[in-house]
Amino acid sequence: EKAGYSHFMQKEIHEQPRAIIDTIRGKFSLEQGTIGGELLEGIQHRIKDFNRIVIVACGTSWHAGLIGKFYIEKFAKIPVEVDIASEFRYRDLVIDDKTLFVAITQSGETADTLSAMRIAKKMGAAVAAVCNVVGSSVSREADSTVYTHAGPEIGVASTKAFTTQVASLFLFALQLAQTKKTMTPDQIRHYLKELVRVPEVIEKTLKHEDYILSLAKKFKDAKDFLYLGRNVNYPIALEGALKLKEISYIHAEGYPAGEMKHGPIALIDENLPVFIICPQSSVYEKIASNVQEVKSRDGIVLAVVTEGDTGLDALADHKIEIPAIAEELSVFPAVVVTQIFSYYVASLLGLDVDQPRNLAKSVTVE
Ligand code: F6R
Repeated sequence: EKAGYSHFMQKEIHEQPRAIIDTIRGKFSLEQGTIGGELLEGIQHRIKDFNRIVIVACGTSWHAGLIGKFYIEKFAKIPVEVDIASEFRYRDLVIDDKTLFVAITQSGETADTLSAMRIAKKMGAAVAAVCNVVGSSVSREADSTVYTHAGPEIGVASTKAFTTQVASLFLFALQLAQTKKTMTPDQIRHYLKELVRVPEVIEKTLKHEDYILSLAKKFKDAKDFLYLGRNVNYPIALEGALKLKEISYIHAEGYPAGEMKHGPIALIDENLPVFIICPQSSVYEKIASNVQEVKSRDGIVLAVVTEGDTGLDALADHKIEIPAIAEELSVFPAVVVTQIFSYYVASLLGLDVDQPRNLAKSVTVE
């Protein structure tokens, strides 16, 4: 059932192109530049009333939510807050019937996320879910569910569930933009054309697997890692660090690169590998200067850059190339690099990649 792969996680990493195709299929028309289908079913009639969106999730799903905020604010111009479910639950909330609440959950059974959704519903919010499991508690109680068609995810470390959540949020944001008329069909078509390239872009990224394995061999005994990103790739820094921690038990921190000088820069020395997610983007120059800051303190720079980009060659100790794609979608190849890296570090260390210690696939207790 692992289809020739050593672990489910490895299989699931490789399934991502297929999973994304299944997730986005039938939900848009490229010719017309329109989004349709199930995405907003059940809440369509309330969309014009929403003045705010609150996204709530845990763990990796929370990271997907952080990316969703970029998409929704950019495309649909609706302010978005993203919260961790266990924090949302125990706070004095400001929620009303003009709030759209979105729960993101692979399993649909995470206790904190489910409770957060119930609270929001009670306070009058419309509640939508992005969920991978049909018939799960969250999907049954939501007014509207967008299903990620990732298929069963067996590895405890989430991979294909994450990328299909992000793809769903991308379409969700475009559909909100279409409904609110904040984008023209031409603009929507441009982004849809880029979205359909994502599976192929991931395939191409997977071709660098051997190179990433060689880096895993080099760095598997490091004690700490730092992951940096900016803008839409800041959540990828968080996700890269989480993935490494949970399966390899190596301490890792993810940080917004611009925040580094406010503290974590003190950690940098010649023993610290620093993953920097810096594809071509509107913040490329900004992050390049952060790379400079790391290098001038002798940190070891592993830079994830766009194919053919030589701008960081003088600063990067190691360079991992990802195919060019719209900046908003560079999160896909970037996260795949971090998934493969974590996977190989953990498997080289001989750890139980699919069942890491202390972790459960779905956390049904708070
Ligand atoms: C990390 C991981 C967890 C889950 C989190 C939420 O790889 O899998 O952080 O993302 O427990 O789970 P769901 O999405 O099922 O609510």
